[in-house]
Amino acid sequence: MKNDTAYIRELAGLAPIIPVLVVDDVAHAIPLAEALVRGGLPVLEVTLRTKAALEVITAMTSVEGQIGFQPFTDADLVTAQDVTAAVAAGSTFGVTPGSPTFLIDACLEAGLPLLPGAATATEAMTLQARGFEVLKFFPAEGAGGIKTLKGLGGPLPGISFCPTGGVTPENALDYLALPNVVCAGGSWIAPSSLVKAGKWNEIEERARHASALSR
Ligand code: 3PG
Repeated sequence: MKNDTAYIRELAGLAPIIPVLVVDDVAHAIPLAEALVRGGLPVLEVTLRTKAALEVITAMTSVEGQIGFQPFTDADLVTAQDVTAAVAAGSTFGVTPGSPTFLIDACLEAGLPLLPGAATATEAMTLQARGFEVLKFFPAEGAGGIKTLKGLGGPLPGISFCPTGGVTPENALDYLALPNVVCAGGSWIAPSSLVKAGKWNEIEERARHASALSR
């Protein structure tokens, strides 16, 4: 059982944006992942909000990245059962919206590297005490956004965040400019409407723009 912070730090450093995906149809998994990887975003967050989500993760793990690595797929975990299912589906890491003890324990038990969610100083400190140094800041805008992250940076300089929830093309650069932000997550790169319509070129273009955002 280990908390693989170095691996999560490496993944979080691969691209400035992690696209958050809601995919209804497994047939969309491969062309979607290919478009995102071509656009420069190899780390993908597949939410477990659809019946097809686990099959989508499995399908996406077969997609090769242009620069020689596979896309890193993760699942949005809420229950201990989600952890088991996500690992079986081939997830290479997990993301949680919050960090109840049972869920962190389940991920550690499963050996699943984790980007755990935190929205407050207490949550961040509790996770840091368990060895997690890269956290999802969620819901970013609802939890105070840039002001809160700046505030947390003073007393908790050892923690890096991936703000997600309300990050947009308009505010992403402001988040990425913070010293304690390593990357950000967002759904605007591949919203369900574009995925359902099979607009892979447009998704690739959005990914290219997002991958060029500087940190
Ligand atoms: C989500 O839970 O769907 C993510 O936080 C993405 O949020 P966003 O749609 O505001 O990018």
